[in-house]
Amino acid sequence: RMKICINTGGGDAPGLNAVIEAVTMAACNRQWDVYGIKSGYAGLLNPDELIHLTPEKVNGIASVGGTILGTTNKGNPFMMPVMNAIGEYEQRDLSDRVMDNFRRLRFDALIAVGGDGSLEIAHRFAEKGMPVIGVPKTIDNDMGGTVISFGFDTAVSIATEAIDRLHSTAKSHDRVMVVELMGRNAGFIALNSGISGNADVILIPEIPYDIEKVCDKLMDNELHGHKYAIVVVAEGAVPKDGNVIAKGAGEAGRQHVVLGGIAEHVANEITKRTGKDSRSIVLGHLQRGGSPSTFDRLLSLRFGAAAVRAIEDGNFNHMVALRSPEIALVPLGEALGIQKRVLVDGDTVLTARDLGICFGD
Ligand code: F6P
Repeated sequence: RMKICINTGGGDAPGLNAVIEAVTMAACNRQWDVYGIKSGYAGLLNPDELIHLTPEKVNGIASVGGTILGTTNKGNPFMMPVMNAIGEYEQRDLSDRVMDNFRRLRFDALIAVGGDGSLEIAHRFAEKGMPVIGVPKTIDNDMGGTVISFGFDTAVSIATEAIDRLHSTAKSHDRVMVVELMGRNAGFIALNSGISGNADVILIPEIPYDIEKVCDKLMDNELHGHKYAIVVVAEGAVPKDGNVIAKGAGEAGRQHVVLGGIAEHVANEITKRTGKDSRSIVLGHLQRGGSPSTFDRLLSLRFGAAAVRAIEDGNFNHMVALRSPEIALVPLGEALGIQKRVLVDGDTVLTARDLGICFGD
């Protein structure tokens, strides 16, 4: 009789509960024992935090957002902040304690559901001898090895609906509405929802923008009687001159982190340069909250069940992935080495250009 555990790490994404439901059902149908670890890996540091998962506990949670296990992006056991004798926090490597607890509890495998950060930790535990299967989660869709991660479709749907709603208010006032969307260093949410929501301008990290080009587009629209505009800005978008505005750290000379910085900055620049009235909106965590879309629900259920089958087959240190139309297994190390970004000459960007959408380049 197998005994497995599952954790959810990093930012929440719609579909986490569906993975938990599928893992629990598939495991229980095989007469295995399955436990949920609370708050990422923290529950393995303090095993009183384990939840025995049963069909009754997970029944119907697939349609509910968030995660019943809780999650954190501050729970790396290899670098855990621990208070020392003089009351200061220092980072300690508590990974051996996690390994000891895992073995003492006689777990046969861990299913780690997370983004690149959480799966990187899973990979390090795999290297220490823990049998691990990864499940890719991120609304940003920037994880390699899989065509898509769960959470992305819901985020795009919510963002598209928000953009749809901005049209009527923007039109009523002849205003420029600048909406900032999540995505970290990738522009997938902004690109997909911007196209679907009929935006005039889409600014993404993969295509550095020139604010003058953006303003030219808006003035040209005006000449053609289109007086209002929707500008979609990915939180990681960067101007060509390299000045740093947005949250999200990492690429192209980021120095400064301000949540909601980029939309406000772009709106101010547009008003300054064109005289047009503008407003900025940060959609923020609305893109992560609530019920998963049908697509995300099904993908998460398929990922969860595939993870259990991978354990049954002994295929450890792999990540389940969508290789349309089927679910495949990819070596974790391989998937983690790829940071997916929008293809600047891919057909989605070309479609946007064909529709007359401006990227400010
Ligand atoms: O990675 C998912 C994501 O929602 C990003 O799009 C965003 O930059 C970040 O997480 C926000 O994270 P937090 O939970 O720290 O607000």
